[in-house]
Amino acid sequence: MNTVFLEHSDLRIDTPRLAARLDALAQVGAIDGGGVNRLAFTDADRDGRNLVIGWMRDLAMDIRIDGIGNVIATLSGRDASLAPIMIGSHIDSVRTGGRFDGTLGVCAGLEVVETLKTAGVTLERSIEVAYFSDEEGSRYPPDALGSMVYCGHRDLESALDTVGIDGTRLGDELARIGYAGPTPSPGTVPHAFLELHIEQGPVLEHEGITIGVVTGVQGISWQTITVSGQSNHAGTTPMALRRDAAVVAARIAVEVREIVRTVAIETGTPQVGNVGSIRTFPGLVNVVAASATLTVDLRNTDDAALTLTEIRLRDFCAATADAENLAITEESTARSRPVSFDPHLIDLVARTAELLGYSHRRMPSGAAHDAQEFATICRSAMIFVPSVGGLSHNVGEFTELSDIGAGADVLLQVVFAIE
Ligand code: GLV
Ligand code: MN
Ligand code: MN
Repeated sequence: MNTVFLEHSDLRIDTPRLAARLDALAQVGAIDGGGVNRLAFTDADRDGRNLVIGWMRDLAMDIRIDGIGNVIATLSGRDASLAPIMIGSHIDSVRTGGRFDGTLGVCAGLEVVETLKTAGVTLERSIEVAYFSDEEGSRYPPDALGSMVYCGHRDLESALDTVGIDGTRLGDELARIGYAGPTPSPGTVPHAFLELHIEQGPVLEHEGITIGVVTGVQGISWQTITVSGQSNHAGTTPMALRRDAAVVAARIAVEVREIVRTVAIETGTPQVGNVGSIRTFPGLVNVVAASATLTVDLRNTDDAALTLTEIRLRDFCAATADAENLAITEESTARSRPVSFDPHLIDLVARTAELLGYSHRRMPSGAAHDAQEFATICRSAMIFVPSVGGLSHNVGEFTELSDIGAGADVLLQVVFAIE
């Protein structure tokens, strides 16, 4: 522990001020049930971006925007030659998203900055607060696309050419909302990257623990599977002669759950998976479906088991295509390996939670995060706070104010303590 940490160990963030920013952002793209719809590069995403940029300006931070719309604001430190500490997350959401997913990390970063300014503290290193584009990836896969481009894991041009679920081109929508910026990517490498996030699962609440010390992020595999059969009359076509894409899509969805269950047992790993979307064409009551498109999300902390799950699914699709006399194609839209965070920063988060008197436990992240991209270019860490009922990607997502304050205080003290 260094002296700076001891010097400012009494400093705390202002929880009501942080909550006010979260509340204001939750009004942008608000939907029934208390959630938000700010799918990447929509008007609601633009409005949320504008609100947060306004706060960055109010805090007199220097703002830069790169070619995929990542926004990075800097509070200068004493030594401009030192790489900054970056605090980042996202403000885009899934279509039926909650108010804390991503926004907590961004608003907590601004709260750290405001706390420092109010206390008249200037750190040696600059602090950057960033929100990254298209973290959710649910309109333009893969997830964490903005931070991928920032970190040099994906080139800008191919990212801009991504076609969304609504047929739009990412680069066109980005330009339309006015967030195609001039800062080159990959971006500058920070000294360290920190992300405070809600857990989005039930573990912390279930165990009555305040702080999750995140050890890493599980590997993710997304696929779009297309089943091509033949449309025909629903009344006249004998059952044995049908090439029904809807039936096959439904069988794949059921089989995903079965494969996941057996791989988890055989490998002793926490394999999960689901089919989140099934669309049939032409999608009419009296027409045998000509085609079906479905999405598959598979995740595991163990890459070999995740690969085994992918292979079993591919084998099932091949066998089913033969048996049903139709074609099945699979396209990978996201594939990341499990990521581990920096051991020293993990220890620092745990020690800081301990010093502040919060219960804590180490845990992997089930969800994807911008920090997973940064973990390969700089020392990175994440702090989790509990999600009530374990709900996320759900309008009912909620985290108690006391936990939000605890997580942001841990973040603040980790910023002081980073060497
Ligand atoms: C994003 O939140 C994801 O985990 O899919
Ligand atoms: Mn998130
Ligand atoms: Mn999310």
